[in-house]
Amino acid sequence: MRNAMSSPAVVPPLPAGQSRGGPHRIVEEPAASHRTIRVGLLGFGTVGRGLYALLERRRDATARRHGVAFEIAAILVRDVERARDAMPATALVTSDPERFLAGRFDVVVEAIGGVEPAARLVGTLLERGVDVVTANKALLADRWDALHALAAASGARLRWEASVAAGIPVVGLLRRSLQSTQVSRVTAILNATSNLVLTKIAWGSSLEDALLHARRQGFAEADPTLDVSGIDAAQKLAILVATIRSRALAPSEIDVQGIESVRPEDSVRAAAFGGHLKPIAFADLGDARPGAWIAPAFVPDRHPLARVEGTSNGVHLTGDTVSDLFLSGPGAGADPTAASLLDDLLALANGDRSARTPALDPPLRFQPPLTRWFVSVRADALEQHLENVLEVVAGSGLLFRELRVLREPTGPVLAGITVPILRDQIERIGARLEAATAVTELRAWRAIDAPVEEASR
Ligand SMILES: NC(=O)c1ccc[n+]([C@@H]2O[C@H](COP(=O)([O-])OP(=O)(O)OC[C@H]3O[C@@H](n4cnc5c(N)ncnc54)[C@H](OP(=O)(O)O)[C@@H]3O)[C@@H](O)[C@H]2O)c1
Repeated sequence: MRNAMSSPAVVPPLPAGQSRGGPHRIVEEPAASHRTIRVGLLGFGTVGRGLYALLERRRDATARRHGVAFEIAAILVRDVERARDAMPATALVTSDPERFLAGRFDVVVEAIGGVEPAARLVGTLLERGVDVVTANKALLADRWDALHALAAASGARLRWEASVAAGIPVVGLLRRSLQSTQVSRVTAILNATSNLVLTKIAWGSSLEDALLHARRQGFAEADPTLDVSGIDAAQKLAILVATIRSRALAPSEIDVQGIESVRPEDSVRAAAFGGHLKPIAFADLGDARPGAWIAPAFVPDRHPLARVEGTSNGVHLTGDTVSDLFLSGPGAGADPTAASLLDDLLALANGDRSARTPALDPPLRFQPPLTRWFVSVRADALEQHLENVLEVVAGSGLLFRELRVLREPTGPVLAGITVPILRDQIERIGARLEAATAVTELRAWRAIDAPVEEASR
C-alpha cells in the first residue's frame, strides 16, 4: 500500500485558466499531472478539521509545486451524528474502527489523541505497511519503541512533527537537518497553557484567574491538569529526546514539577534578579551527567526563552556543532498543527526516508538533575534574625552565587541563586532552616543560565 505514495495515479489537470476554488480565488498555473494520495483521517476535531481546511486552501499550490493531490478517503470519529460545518463530501465518515481499517489508504493521519484506541489503530496500520503521521504526544511518549519497531518491521514510515511545539519545525530539524550534530542539551518552553498562565501570573493574576483567561482564549482544557502539572511538557520532552537519541525516555527519568504553586511575588523576586519564571523543559544529553526535568524555572533576561511570552513555545539547542540554536513560534492551534501535518505528508509523498540509526547511539543513564536554584526566604523579623539565618545557610553548605535582601511591601525577603545542587539537598536545607530559625517560608525554583554563561561553565 505504501508504494502508492510513489506510483503515480494520474488525475487529469484542470483546464488552463481555471482554479478549483470559487470565482474570487487567484488563478494558478495547474500542474501538468499529479498523483492522488488517499488519506485516512483518525479524528475530526480541532486538528482534523484544521488539516482538512488547509488541504483545501493549498489544493492548487500542492498540485502545482509538489505534483500531488491529497484526497481524504475516510474519517473516524466518536460520534457520527454530531453536526459539523465542513466535511469532505467524498469521505466515508464512520465511528466503527474496523470499517475505517478496511479502507485503502496511502497514508493515515492520527489526530484522535490519548493512548487508546490510537495505539491499536496506528499499530495495526503500521503493521500493514501503511505510513502514519501523528499529532499525538501521549501516544508517542507511551509507545515510542513499540510503534517504531512495527514500522521498522513492515517498512512503513511514522512521522510526528505536529506532536511537539506544533508551530515550530523542531522535529524535522532534528531528524533531517541536524543528523551530523550530537545535540547535548535541549532547553525549551513546550506547553502553551503553562506559558500563558505564568505570563499572566507575572502581571499579577492568581493561578485561577490566569487559567480562566487561558480557557477563554481556547487554550486550557476544562481540566487543565496535564498542562499545569507538567505532564504534557514531559511527554513532549520525551519525544524530543527520543527524536535525538532514538530511545524513549521513561516518565520516571524526568523530574517533573508543575506550575500550580507559583505566585505573583515569585515573578516580582525573579524580576529583581533580572529574570522571569518560565515553564521550562530541560534535558542534558551529555555523557557527563545526563538528566531531564520539567519545572517553573528562573530564566535570566539574556536567555532567548525569556522573551517567549503567552501561548508561544521556544526551543534552544546546544550541540557539538551548534552552540546557540533557537526557534520560537506558536505552540498549538489548528493552523500551525495542520501545517506541521501537511509538511510531514508532503515529505512522505516526496519520498522522505530519513531516520536516525537507533543502534549507533550509546544508552544514556539519566540521573537526578543538578541545577542552580532561585531561593527566597521569609522570616519573622528577618532583619533581627538575619545573622542566624545566614549562619544556618552557611552551615548547611548551601553556596550562593548572589544573595540579597529584597524590600517588599509585606517585609524583607532574603533571596538568591545557588550553585548547582540536587532537589533533595535543597529540600533538606529548607527543612533545616525552618526548624532552626524564625524562617516562616522558603520558596525554591530551579534556575538556568544564559547560553553564554552555560558555555563558560
Ligand atoms: N488542538 C491543538 O492545538 C493540538 C496541537 C498539537 C497537537 N494536538 C494533538 O492532536 C490530537 C487531537 O487533538 P484535537 O485538539 O484535535 O482533539 P479534539 O478536538 O478533541 O478531537 C478529537 C477527535 O478525535 C475523535 N475521537 C476521539 N476519541 C475517539 C475514539 N475513541 N474513536 C473515534 N474517534 C475518536 C473525536 O470524535 P468526535 O468529533 O466525534 O468527538 C474528534 O473528532 C491530540 O493528540 C492532541 O494532543 C493538538
